[in-house]
Amino acid sequence: IAASGKRTAYRAQLLYFKARAGNDPEHRLTVQHSDGLLLVEDGRIAQVGDYGVLAPALGADVPIVDWRGKLIIPGFIDTHIHYPQTDMIASPSPGLLPWLESYVFPTERRFDNPDYAADVARFFLDELLRCGTTSALVYCTVHPGSVEAFFAESHARNLRMVAGKVLMDRNCPEFLRDTAQSGARDSEALIARWHGKGRQMYALTPRFAPTSSDAQLGVCGELAQRYRDVFIQSHVAENKDEVKWAAELFPGHRSYLDIYDHYGLLRRRAVYGHCIWLDEVDLRRLHDSGAVAAHCPTSNQFLGSGLFDFAAAKASRAQVTLATDVGGGSSFSMLQTMNEAHKVARLSGYHLSAETMFYLATEGAAQALDLGGRIGTLAAGAEADFVVLDPQATPILARRTAHADSLEELLFAFAMLGDDRAVAATYAAGRGVHRREERVNP
Ligand code: GUN
Ligand code: ZN
Repeated sequence: IAASGKRTAYRAQLLYFKARAGNDPEHRLTVQHSDGLLLVEDGRIAQVGDYGVLAPALGADVPIVDWRGKLIIPGFIDTHIHYPQTDMIASPSPGLLPWLESYVFPTERRFDNPDYAADVARFFLDELLRCGTTSALVYCTVHPGSVEAFFAESHARNLRMVAGKVLMDRNCPEFLRDTAQSGARDSEALIARWHGKGRQMYALTPRFAPTSSDAQLGVCGELAQRYRDVFIQSHVAENKDEVKWAAELFPGHRSYLDIYDHYGLLRRRAVYGHCIWLDEVDLRRLHDSGAVAAHCPTSNQFLGSGLFDFAAAKASRAQVTLATDVGGGSSFSMLQTMNEAHKVARLSGYHLSAETMFYLATEGAAQALDLGGRIGTLAAGAEADFVVLDPQATPILARRTAHADSLEELLFAFAMLGDDRAVAATYAAGRGVHRREERVNP
């Protein structure tokens, strides 16, 4: 983010959260300005507060973008998503393992072609921004070129993205295999090239334990130790057949999560997708290690993987975030993801409030990823990634929000009824990166 002194102000209802000790979503602080002003300078938030207080002190040269009637919140953070699975989203299958064989692997094979990878990366980022997602933890494929294509596109748009090359050296088609040595070499080269370049950050990405040998997880653990501020992302305990398979492949571990622990892959900035079939000991270990559970409800329902136990996760105080897991997930929208998360929590007897879900998708995720103060917030000093939500986006949203009697009711309507249509505009580092086509009210 270069300094040029360029300033723009935005007038709207403003909403963001502040984490409290321990990142407990229930004890967050909610900050709200019903007629607010957000001042952006050089891609960062310079000031945030009430319009009546801040506007008189603004120089006459500062343009004010009028978003009155809309709600500005921090850009959403999707903590688990596969960009190469964009073209095979919504593919029918009886469950995770057959779905990987019949759809995922053949589609990921196409990423040996850099032109195809670049084309998908462009579409994928457009789609995220249309949904108001400004940061994501992104799986690429086993091909280093797929990472190159992704980061090149993200860097050109100045988006804060985390991504990595999939590591897998067994139990997958020959055409998608690396080796322990080549995977480590390629990962290190990509870290040198991309981690910290502009807003890009790297994630070591062993697909999941069953597709990595003991040697591969071993060198991955060494890299995780050498590069402490690099992320780690993988899948754990998503599906019962997968859990059984992992236990057969790695005998002698007390649980699936324990395999990753054994190789030094549980730490801050390590994010594990799904975490459905974990026990109390696992959840406590997640908490103690600082690793994060990425809850992927649309995917879990779509693939029939199981029901994430929100109550148990909360009791353990393990860090939880929300994620789409496209193409296992059936929507790019974090609002749709909240919708499903709420219903899954309901089934385990837990009431997941809209405020908590918006927290988890913004400030809560930033804190969990060790990116607090940089993204996920409208607080001064943060990178200016934000979303303009439109309570009138659809006839039913307009009708319901017209008599929303509290912030919770307003946010709940967005979470249950909203999707990409609810996003009027998206900004990244202070630059407009998406503008919804205007809908003409009849
Ligand atoms: N487990 C291993 N690979 C994958 C994947 O691509 N998607 C999901 N949902 N689970 C996985
Ligand atoms: Zn996944």
